[in-house]
Amino acid sequence: MKLLVTGGAGFIGSAVVRLAVSRGHAVVNLDALTYAACLDNVAEVADSPLYAFKRADIRDRPALDAVFAAHKPDAVMHLAAESHVDRSIDGPGDFIETNIIGTYNMLEAARTYWINASKPETFRFHHISTDEVYGSLPTDPSVQFTEDTPYDPRSPYSASKASSDHLVRAWHETYGLPVVLTNCSNNYGPYHFPEKLVPVIILNALAGKPLPIYGDGSNVRDWLYVEDHADALLLVVEKGALGRSYNIGGENERSNLELVQTLCGILDELQPKASGSYADQITFVTDRPGHDARYAIDPTRIREELGWRPSVTVEEGLRRTVQWYLDNEAWWRALQDRHGVGERLGVSAVSDTARQTASDANGWSTGK
Ligand SMILES: NC(=O)c1ccc[n+]([C@@H]2O[C@H](COP(=O)([O-])OP(=O)(O)OC[C@H]3O[C@@H](n4cnc5c(N)ncnc54)[C@H](O)[C@@H]3O)[C@@H](O)[C@H]2O)c1
Repeated sequence: MKLLVTGGAGFIGSAVVRLAVSRGHAVVNLDALTYAACLDNVAEVADSPLYAFKRADIRDRPALDAVFAAHKPDAVMHLAAESHVDRSIDGPGDFIETNIIGTYNMLEAARTYWINASKPETFRFHHISTDEVYGSLPTDPSVQFTEDTPYDPRSPYSASKASSDHLVRAWHETYGLPVVLTNCSNNYGPYHFPEKLVPVIILNALAGKPLPIYGDGSNVRDWLYVEDHADALLLVVEKGALGRSYNIGGENERSNLELVQTLCGILDELQPKASGSYADQITFVTDRPGHDARYAIDPTRIREELGWRPSVTVEEGLRRTVQWYLDNEAWWRALQDRHGVGERLGVSAVSDTARQTASDANGWSTGK
C-alpha cells in the first residue's frame, strides 16, 4: 500500500513511518518541520526506496494538491497537528489554523484526488485523534471513554482536535469520503519530544534538576507505548470499517505521580546516582489550568473487531524508553535548544489578559 503520512517527522508519525516501511509499505512523509519535528526520527528509513519526504504545510492547499497528484496514495494517515496542551493555552491560534483549517485542507485535497481517481473503493482517509476530545472522567475505574462518549473538550488543543474529528465525520456523511478515525490515549516511547512529561522527567532526573509534577500528581492517564500505537494505526487503516472510529488505549492507567515514581525506580536501576534516589528530586508545581482529572480508554471495539491489544505493559515500555534516552543523548541534546523547551508553558491563563499578550509576544506559544 502507498501511504501519505502527515506529521511523519513528529513523535507518533515517525513511529508509523518506520513501522510502515519495515512492513513493505511505500510512504510519503508530508511535514512542515515545525519546532516539534526532527528528521532524525526517520533516519533509519530515509535511504529506503519505499520512502519519500515532502516538506509542506497542511495550511497550504495548493501544496497538498501537488503532493496528491505526484504521489497518488492509496491511503492517507493524517497525524500532522500542533500537539502540546500547554502551548495551546499560551497561544491557541496555531492550533486553530493547523488542527482545524489544516484538516479541512487535507479533507478537500483528499476528496478532490479521490473524485479525480473515480472514487476508488479502497481509498482511506485515516484521521488520528486523541482521547482528550471526550473531556475528563471521574476517578471511578468502571467509567471509561467509549467511542460513544459525548465530546466535551476542555483545552484549546482538545477543542481543535474535536473540531477536526467533526469535520472528518461530516466529509464522510456529506461527500461519502471513505474515512476511519482513531482516538488514542497518552503515548510515550523513543523519539518523544523533550517538552512532554516522560522525557522531561527522564532528562531532568539525569541533569539533577527538579522533577516537576503538576498539582498533586493525582491526574490519571492511560499510557500507550508509541510502537504499539503505530501497530494499531496500520491495522485500522488496512482493516478498519468505513466511517467507524476506534479508541486505542494501553490498558495502563497510572497517576502522574505513580508514573514519575516508576520512572525514578527504573533510572535508579539503570543509571544509579552516587547517593539517594531520583525520586528525591520530585517537586510539585502549580497545576495546569483546566487540567483534566482522568482519561481512560475502553478498547473493547478495536480488540473485538480487529483483534488488537497492546503488546507491552507500562513498566516494560517505560524501561525500553529510559534505556533509549540513555543510549541516544545526541538526539535529545540537539532538541533541548529549541524554543520554549525546558520552560514552564501554559500558565498564562491563570493570570490576566496582559500576561497572555506578553506570552504571545515572547513567542513561547507559536510552535515555530
Ligand atoms: N502524543 C500523544 O500522546 C497523542 C495522543 C493522542 C493523539 N495524538 C495525536 O497524534 C498526532 C501526532 O502527535 P505527536 O505527539 O506525534 O505530535 P508531534 O507534535 O510530535 O508531531 C507533529 C508533527 O506534525 C508536524 N506539523 C505540525 N503542524 C504542521 C503543519 N501545519 N503542516 C504540516 N505538518 C505539521 C510537525 O512538524 C511534527 O512533525 C496528532 O494529531 C495528535 O493530536 C497524540
